[in-house]
Amino acid sequence: MKLFAGNSNQILAEQVTKYIDVPLGRANVRRFADQEIFVEILENVRGEDCFILQSTSYPANDHLMELLIMIDALRRASARRITAVIPYFGYARQDRKPGPRAPISAKLVANLIAEAGADRVLTLDLHAAQIQGFFDIPTDNLFAVPVLARDVKEHYDLKNVMVVSPDVGGVVRARALAKRCESLLAIVDKRRDKPGESEVMNVIGDVKDKDCILIDDIIDSGGTLCNAAEALLAIGATSVTAYITHGVLSGGAVARITSSKLKELVITDSIQPTAAVEAAANIRVVSISDLMGEAVKRTALEKSVSSLFD
Ligand code: R5P
Repeated sequence: MKLFAGNSNQILAEQVTKYIDVPLGRANVRRFADQEIFVEILENVRGEDCFILQSTSYPANDHLMELLIMIDALRRASARRITAVIPYFGYARQDRKPGPRAPISAKLVANLIAEAGADRVLTLDLHAAQIQGFFDIPTDNLFAVPVLARDVKEHYDLKNVMVVSPDVGGVVRARALAKRCESLLAIVDKRRDKPGESEVMNVIGDVKDKDCILIDDIIDSGGTLCNAAEALLAIGATSVTAYITHGVLSGGAVARITSSKLKELVITDSIQPTAAVEAAANIRVVSISDLMGEAVKRTALEKSVSSLFD
């Protein structure tokens, strides 16, 4: 087997190659003068089981295009099988038509990846589990919950923990964490009765004197989390920490988190942390490299991936 990486997450790719004990495949992924992407695979892949690790994170369009062109290069070089390993699958938030004339970008991107020549997809915490079905090729959706739960157990007295979903849509994910931490579950119910009126946060569950653990798949602007944290503290929570799989953290999100009432934000390295994230006093990164590495290894060995979560 061989594992190649685009430019989105070279550090994670190196860690995964260490875990699977296979050197990173040699490839040249750079730009022409006009910023078109130029890809050259620098070793023979004929008949090989090939993996490409690439998150379609910021800059999303460039990273997506790198992935597509790398898949094309491997396909034309006669790789036996190509697995797109996408720790963060971007363009996932438009996954249905909430109104007329809206696109479903998650489906479009899934089509592009399959059409480029990928045989399989390995990804992590898809924004919505049903996006798996948008791919007409086998797709494994891993969960960061075991990694996050281990961290919660190391840092908190579980007797006082309350897992909280920041919105109704995230309850399944929050329940999975609560189950592993044997803790109770609360839900923040965001409502805006009329357009233009400010959001009202109702908390379902008694969070008074609890260490609240908010869990979500994505933090982008940080608005959802900071608002939920304020609502929880206002009704007597002792502390609020957030565990989020994908630290998108665009615009002024890092500054917003550092000046918020969040005790800590814990994210994974599904998206390579920026220098600002690494310097932030209340943001910590836990690695999913072993989880991804084990899933890559099992895929190559045709072993069960789902049993990783039993
Ligand atoms: C929404 O459905 C997602 O799960 C996240 O809650 C959302 O994308 C977070 O965005 P932001 O940080 O911009 O509020």
